[in-house]
Amino acid sequence: MSEAVERVAIIGGTGISDIPDLDAQRQVVDTPYGPVAVLIAQTAPHPVVFLNRHGLHREHPPHRINYRGNLAALRMLGVSRILATNAVGSINRALPPGSLVLIDDYLDFTAGRANTFFDGEASGHAYTEMSTPCCPALRARLLALAARADLPVHPGGVYACTNGPRFETPAEIRMFAQLGADVVGMTGMPEVVLARELGMHYAAIAYSINWAAGIEAQVEIVREGIPQLLRRLLAVMVETVQADDLPPCRCTDPLMMVRPAQEGGGIYRQ
Ligand code: HPA
Repeated sequence: MSEAVERVAIIGGTGISDIPDLDAQRQVVDTPYGPVAVLIAQTAPHPVVFLNRHGLHREHPPHRINYRGNLAALRMLGVSRILATNAVGSINRALPPGSLVLIDDYLDFTAGRANTFFDGEASGHAYTEMSTPCCPALRARLLALAARADLPVHPGGVYACTNGPRFETPAEIRMFAQLGADVVGMTGMPEVVLARELGMHYAAIAYSINWAAGIEAQVEIVREGIPQLLRRLLAVMVETVQADDLPPCRCTDPLMMVRPAQEGGGIYRQ
């Protein structure tokens, strides 16, 4: 990537409330979409911003997360690269609970979420290219560093995003399986879309904590070994997101702009 990288970010969700081993200060960012609290660690070469998408006190359930505020806050802090984690249920039988999956595509079954910065009128009008939802350079580097750390990561997977907060029915999971989904979660969308709209490099690693509905008699959350797994994953993520020698990619130019945003029209790319 030839552009200057200022800060980088980790987005965590269920089970991740900070970055272990990093000394971070709390900061509240006033975005056009409301205040967003983050933790910032002054690490070299790039400060790492940690954002729990549910809020620092887990106050927002998946369908009420302030996705636009979260992404706007990162952008306002000068973040250009994001690695996100998502807790998921496993649909693909080859990915038992405890698996880490580097997501490479999405199915969006959410409804009613504010899912764009380009909402027409003052905020502008744009179509966003989604052929490569996640940054190929970040994905490749994460795989390489995970292998070096002996951390097994499945190199690809399709994430089906439901609205939640309920779990799915068995018939819904059978449908997602037929559509090609490997894992199911409630938070991947519209986060990846908003990152694309802002021209940020974004990649997501899902960690499975259960078999999806209908695979066993009941959804059982697996807790054993997950905190240790996440700690190892976060260490690899911090190293990946700070890398200074990533190859070029096309993440920074994803928009087919129809009408630019106007002054005061929210957060937008210059
Ligand atoms: N479904 C949806 N979201 C989830 C699941 C699931 O089974 N597990 C963790 N997040």
